[in-house]
Amino acid sequence: MEKRILLSTPTMHGEEIKYIQEAFDRNWIAPLGFNCDAFETEMCEYLCDNGRAALATVSGTSAIHLAVKLAGVKPGDTVFCSDMTFAATVNPVSYEGGKQVFIDSERETWNMDPVALEKAFEKYPDTKVVVLAHLYGVPAKLDEILAVCKKHGAILIEDAAEALTSTYKNRQCGTFGKYNILSFNGNKIITTSGGGMLIVPSPEDREKAFFLATQSREKELWYQHNEIGYNYRMSNVVAGIGRGQLKFADEHRERKEAIYRRYQNGLQDLPITMNPYLAESVPNFWLSCLTVNEACDVDPIDIIKALDAANVEARPIWKPMHMQPVFAENDFITAADKPVGEDIFKRGFCLPSDIKMTEDEQQYVMDVIKSCF
Ligand SMILES: Cc1ncc(COP(=O)(O)O)c(C=O)c1O
Repeated sequence: MEKRILLSTPTMHGEEIKYIQEAFDRNWIAPLGFNCDAFETEMCEYLCDNGRAALATVSGTSAIHLAVKLAGVKPGDTVFCSDMTFAATVNPVSYEGGKQVFIDSERETWNMDPVALEKAFEKYPDTKVVVLAHLYGVPAKLDEILAVCKKHGAILIEDAAEALTSTYKNRQCGTFGKYNILSFNGNKIITTSGGGMLIVPSPEDREKAFFLATQSREKELWYQHNEIGYNYRMSNVVAGIGRGQLKFADEHRERKEAIYRRYQNGLQDLPITMNPYLAESVPNFWLSCLTVNEACDVDPIDIIKALDAANVEARPIWKPMHMQPVFAENDFITAADKPVGEDIFKRGFCLPSDIKMTEDEQQYVMDVIKSCF
């Protein structure tokens, strides 16, 4: 294939440029501004969660950092975190001096196992914060996770960076936690080039997050700072991209699902399993993934290499955090005989899921995969 087939790239529609143009026309290029305000309101409307408030940020990671601060994590505090996820889910706990305890995945969604979470509370009963990611846009077992959090009086931070437009029991991901975050980086279901959003329970919480995100500047005429702050606000130009993109969020989800279904049908004769999800959830299928069945000795790394040689981008599953050298000292809790995340990491990989990929291109990808078996 002459043109490289990529994992997931931005898809622009032309609407975005109108909002950017308006920012230019009104010379509102600085951070903050009408596009930021409108993007936040429009996102709350999209999430059908109007009681909440949103704060657009420079990245999903900065939104998680703000969430960790609002949740009150202090140096030395234990925080239960998804184990199999991107490092950005868990790094902000370290920014605040907290200590991550990693919770293994379950097999039905690949997300945090509520049984392992309960086990973790038995070992660390004083823990007050849980950071949960929905991997590849597949909603976690939210009822069970929320029940465990409630039982132990813990705050849930929902990392829905990969899960905008995914629903669980007809409710949008990004609305289940006390604090929730979204990411709009270049490969996400909608993008602003780089950016994120924090979704909080009330305008008062938003006010606190806004304060922290704008260098903790006190309400004085002069520059007065009583605590450490950050420069985490999204720019008005970037928010314009987000406003245009949000109109196409559902269409992007549908196109992602069509890709997943084609893989599911096209690869059904191989000894593989597509990334699973619960009947009560509708994922956004951000990335289609698969695991090679246990009895089969084909190594996913060899498939990734074969795809690369054929000019196709695929990549491994997120390497679990408890396997990362940087977290060698952190505890890891599993409820299984053999850690589930390690097993999925070893047997799985992510397939190209770009919504601009043609059916012929996807067929080509599947032919390369089939040739590996
Ligand atoms: C699960 C998860 N959490 C957090 C992030 C961080 O988002 P950002 O890249 O916008 O900082 C990402 C994506 O990059 C992610 O996939």
